[in-house]
Amino acid sequence: LFAAVELAPRDPILGLTEQFNADTRSNKVNLGVGVYYNDEGRIPLLKAVRKAEQARIDAAAARGYLPIEGLAGYNRAVQELLLGADSPLIAAGRVLTAQSLGGTGALKIGADFLKRLVPQAKVAISDPSWENHRALFEYAGFEVVNYPYYDAATHGVNFAGMIAALESYPAGTVVVLHACCHNPTGVDLTADQWTKVVEVVKARQLIPFLDIAYQGFGDGIDADATAVRQFADAELTFLISSSFSKSFSLYGERVGALSLVAADKEESGRVLSQLKRVIRTNYSNPPTHGGTVVAQVLTSPELRAEWEAELGEMRERIRAMRAALVAKLKERGVARDFGFVLQQRGMFSYSGLTAAQVDRLREEHGIYAVSTGRICVAALNSRNIDAVADGIAAVLK
Ligand code: LMR
Repeated sequence: LFAAVELAPRDPILGLTEQFNADTRSNKVNLGVGVYYNDEGRIPLLKAVRKAEQARIDAAAARGYLPIEGLAGYNRAVQELLLGADSPLIAAGRVLTAQSLGGTGALKIGADFLKRLVPQAKVAISDPSWENHRALFEYAGFEVVNYPYYDAATHGVNFAGMIAALESYPAGTVVVLHACCHNPTGVDLTADQWTKVVEVVKARQLIPFLDIAYQGFGDGIDADATAVRQFADAELTFLISSSFSKSFSLYGERVGALSLVAADKEESGRVLSQLKRVIRTNYSNPPTHGGTVVAQVLTSPELRAEWEAELGEMRERIRAMRAALVAKLKERGVARDFGFVLQQRGMFSYSGLTAAQVDRLREEHGIYAVSTGRICVAALNSRNIDAVADGIAAVLK
């Protein structure tokens, strides 16, 4: 039966972690996967999370099944975080949310739902985009195309190219947009550019699918929701995949959500009924732990304030690492101006390193980065940053 099965290539991101784990060098550094490490090089367990977990353990909660769409309190908290607690869309019952297995799970149930709804549609993703976007939508049966996004010459956005592409798509094309902290480039649209994107998406009747996996890692919880809220204000129907992997440092608990904004409450009920079928036939219903913990933190004023402070610390530490990397490369006489790294937002920097330079970094220095040159700045710390700067300086010579 399996004799003809071909060996698949390693995953471009998680495959790197596999390679990293097998590397026996003690000075190795993993700047591949998007994970935040603290200055001690550890994935933090946030204090707010620990307290909510303790409360859950103390309550000796039973582990019954959750509803197919997940915990109601969690889903409501997700909506408020994305759209604002005073969102008229939430009040009108137009938003429906399903707790999902991380942001990837949200994209997948969204993709499966769309495949039944608009089977002939193409899906447009940014060039470049998160490595898994193309694969995920192709596996769901869609043809995937790229719209221009990153401009290597300016380290900014090729906005004219992006708009021209969006204007050229037929109505009903699904457009995947990174709402903040663009993965992999770290280069985001300005609020004014989002206004234009919303206008074009609306005029061309495209289907917006906003992916927001790093809310709070850019400029703050509300500032990072600018794009989502602009779409909400534009009276559009759209999809949002979101994740707490990063913002709650809960990677392995797989805590995400798919939210859809429908035209009205009655439509929202119908959409949810179909989405539940997609979920039921995939994994039945989501796990209890992560969603319960996140809901507890988001809805308790004390824990919420503590979480926001911890999130702010993570955001500031990443900024400090960006500045330190730029300074240390300069100190080492690297001629290229890396000042653009300071403008980028979120965990990543599109460093401009070539695939060959990334290979040398890994082989000669034990520093792992994605072959596109994406590095996870959130994995830098005061102990490894000199070695990383040395390695980058060496491969740029
Ligand atoms: C990343 O881009 O590294 C993260 O989103 C983790 C993942 O699942 O790829």
